[in-house]
Amino acid sequence: MTHPTAVPEPGPHDAKTTHAAAGGDTDVVGIAPEPAVAEGILADAPAADIFDADTERQAKEIIARYPVSRSALLPMLHLVQSVQGYVSQEGIGFCARQLDLTDAEVSAVATFYTMYKRRPCGEHLVSVCTNTLCAALGGDDIYRKLQTHLGSAESPLGHEETAGTPGEPGSITLEHAECLAACDLGPVLQVNYEYFDNQTPEKAVELVDALRAGTKPAPTRGAPLSDFKGAELQLAGFFPDDEATYRGDVDGPSQAVETLRGAQIATDRGWSAPGAQDVPLPEVEKK
Ligand code: FES
Repeated sequence: MTHPTAVPEPGPHDAKTTHAAAGGDTDVVGIAPEPAVAEGILADAPAADIFDADTERQAKEIIARYPVSRSALLPMLHLVQSVQGYVSQEGIGFCARQLDLTDAEVSAVATFYTMYKRRPCGEHLVSVCTNTLCAALGGDDIYRKLQTHLGSAESPLGHEETAGTPGEPGSITLEHAECLAACDLGPVLQVNYEYFDNQTPEKAVELVDALRAGTKPAPTRGAPLSDFKGAELQLAGFFPDDEATYRGDVDGPSQAVETLRGAQIATDRGWSAPGAQDVPLPEVEKK
């Protein structure tokens, strides 16, 4: 793990200096093989040892959901993350074989979306929104506080770096994110993509300390907290068969008073949006 020498400013600048892709990304092994190997991205274990018969069965189930197998790539990448906690080179090969794609085609997708991690993730992924509104409301302070709290003043944790051993209980990967789509409740952060609204640096520290101690505080809204791999399995579309357990895993109030305030005001005042038929379509030049 490499740490910058000073606390970097959160935001796009920080991403450029500490983002995993800027270092030893596995897709550029031809360009930078040494850092990739040195940081454990390229595991030695054969893919069959990593992705067992159960994972193969789940892969087939995912593929069967789509008329064309390559359309299954996004959930397949979540599936391999649910096994390894990141998309390894073996994970890329596994997806490519199952979907009849090339490794390069799978890599192109895996490196495009930030939800696919190219380094092993912690038991929990903590994403702090540092986009404009949250930043102005304190998101930058929260991110900076967590960088030094999970790292140290001398060696703050960088974007997508992990405090603890990735995958081990209590390990936490920190990242800054650009708008988590909850601006009305900012500053927000997510743990394994579940929301913690109206945060402060103090509340965020309390939260990560609880995670490190092995507890799973209830998100402000939405489903109860699991861990990063568990969330990835759900993103791949796998839930418990038992209805009660399933409901317990995924249900929870998802809206907040703030989110509904505009709709409530419109209802109280009798406002409504014009129907689609009232809006003339723009003229479009025929080609
Ligand atoms: S700016 Fe933070 S959720 Fe939109």
